[in-house]
Amino acid sequence: MILREGFTPKKIKKNDLRLGPDTLLSMFGRPFNLSVLSKLLRLLLVPLLLVAAGAGWYLLTTPGIKPVVINVNQPPTLMVEPVNPVQLGKVPTDSQVNTEVFLYNLGGHPLIIKEVSASCGCTVAKPDKTYIEPGDLARLSITLDTSIKLGHVEKTVTIVSNDPVRPVVTVQLKGQVMAIVMGHEKIAVKDPTVLFKGKCAECHVKKGIGKSGAALFRADCAMCHGDSAQGHVAKALVPGPYHSLEFRKHIRQIIANGSPHTPEMSPFSQKNGGPLSEGQIDSLVQYLGYLSKKMQSENAHSEASSR
Ligand code: HEC
Ligand code: HEC
Repeated sequence: MILREGFTPKKIKKNDLRLGPDTLLSMFGRPFNLSVLSKLLRLLLVPLLLVAAGAGWYLLTTPGIKPVVINVNQPPTLMVEPVNPVQLGKVPTDSQVNTEVFLYNLGGHPLIIKEVSASCGCTVAKPDKTYIEPGDLARLSITLDTSIKLGHVEKTVTIVSNDPVRPVVTVQLKGQVMAIVMGHEKIAVKDPTVLFKGKCAECHVKKGIGKSGAALFRADCAMCHGDSAQGHVAKALVPGPYHSLEFRKHIRQIIANGSPHTPEMSPFSQKNGGPLSEGQIDSLVQYLGYLSKKMQSENAHSEASSR
């Protein structure tokens, strides 16, 4: 090659090298050596192990993926997971609560789900399939409607199949339906009718409009007195001598006119600027009487059974 005079080949600076060993070696701004590599690996080891453990856990516990042991010589065998009962925990009232249970066939012949029924109209249970091959599973989705419900709920779903040993299997659901979904920090109340105005009324009044009895209590009173009037941020209203006319009058009077002791117990009657009609107030007194009786009989029952 003839180089023209005056032409100097462009010097190649180190930084111009885009690829090649130099680049790699100086990847972290300093020479790349084995001890760095081993440190890096050690750093990565813990997360890698965690990922592996997580993946293993997933494989071993995820229905549909985890291995199941079947007995090919056995007739269709229904196994329900989780094992009874299904705990729903605390769930909000007036909502749809969904859960899923798994129906495995651990036998050697196809399992056929003939019927699925629930103990009440408020519970709907539907399997995603009714023909389950050996080792396979069906997902049974269960929806519980918690409208007009409060406190402890227990529902049963019954499954009828061609399992000759256990043709009828029940799944139990247990949960605690709560009225209190959201609240706020303590608010100092000076004006006893503040609850009925503006933003406060959104939560403290609106849900109770047009309701009476249990539904009204849940909407307007439970947030302070508790779901079953057992006491929450305000005192318990049960049990009490609700059989006494005097007592009912006293209770009615406070609901209508508020408490003389604190503006936090607002005067709920329309006469006093509140949202409730006389009939609605009567229905609350009656409901409190019912709750009181229920509490007393439950207490008597638990005393009797603990004896
Ligand atoms: C988002 C709904 C919501 C709004 C808006 C709201 N409240 Fe409440 N309030 C609740 C709930 C729920 C509770 C029950 C609190 C709990 O469970 O701790 C409660 C409780 C209270 C209590 C008794 C609680 C205590 O700690 O003493 C007072 C008093 C009260 N509210 C006043 C008000 C006033 C006044 C306003 C308007 C400025 C208001 N609230 C607005 C939902 C609401
Ligand atoms: C913002 C909270 C709050 C709400 C909502 C509320 N209360 Fe109260 N209530 C109180 C407080 C606080 C007291 C305690 C007053 C006292 O110590 O005398 C009280 C007292 C009472 C009492 C008197 C109990 C007694 O033994 O003297 C009755 C009855 C009562 N409430 C019923 C109701 C009913 C029914 C509703 C629904 C319409 C309701 N309350 C809504 C806070 C509330």
